[in-house]
Amino acid sequence: MSSEVIELMCKRVSCPRLESPAPSSDILDKVFQAGLRAPDHMLLRPWRYLIVQGDARGRLGELFCDAAISDSTDLTEAQREKYRAMPLRAPMLIIGIAENQVHKKVPVEEQIVSCGVGMGYMLLALQSEGFGGMWRTGPMAKHSVVKQGLGVQSHETLVGFLYVGTPKGELKPLPELKTSNFFHEWN
Ligand SMILES: Cc1cc2nc3c(=O)[nH]c(=O)nc-3n(C[C@H](O)[C@H](O)[C@H](O)COP(=O)(O)O)c2cc1C
Repeated sequence: MSSEVIELMCKRVSCPRLESPAPSSDILDKVFQAGLRAPDHMLLRPWRYLIVQGDARGRLGELFCDAAISDSTDLTEAQREKYRAMPLRAPMLIIGIAENQVHKKVPVEEQIVSCGVGMGYMLLALQSEGFGGMWRTGPMAKHSVVKQGLGVQSHETLVGFLYVGTPKGELKPLPELKTSNFFHEWN
């Protein structure tokens, strides 16, 4: 069991190309439970997630387009269409939001990290069930028009968009990283 878990973790890979179907609600529930097991200082549960699927993806695309237009009104129709189509790259998105709380012992950075770890767990859980995901941010994750449209409050952080679905085609090859480049003894 434990070696299977480590093998899954070592083989985790992002899937930029995703198609339908998205996971069923039973699988999704397990994925969400995995996300909720992120380490969490003082058990603040400083996170919430929005699920965007079906036509809601089109509405999110409109929001991306509105955000881009608010930055530059002279966008061509092709450029606008690019923003509208962004959320259509997968059948489902899970948007991770850190619900940062003012706390004596737990700074905001720790709460954002905690939400991010939950998102990482969800990527692993998706892959273990034969699905795929890709974590994206970019300017849209910070944009006030997008945050307002999604109801992200001023004390919250949009940690990222997990694009979720069935991997299309072959998975990317895994990079070969040497542990000795990153892990060093300190004494
Ligand atoms: C917080 C965060 C934000 C990211 N934002 C983007 C993004 O906007 N666009 C993108 O192509 N990759 C983004 N990535 C990277 C991909 O999700 C992915 O990790 C990367 O392509 C490496 O692939 P791998 O996960 O298979 O190693 C982001 C990753 C993290 C952790």
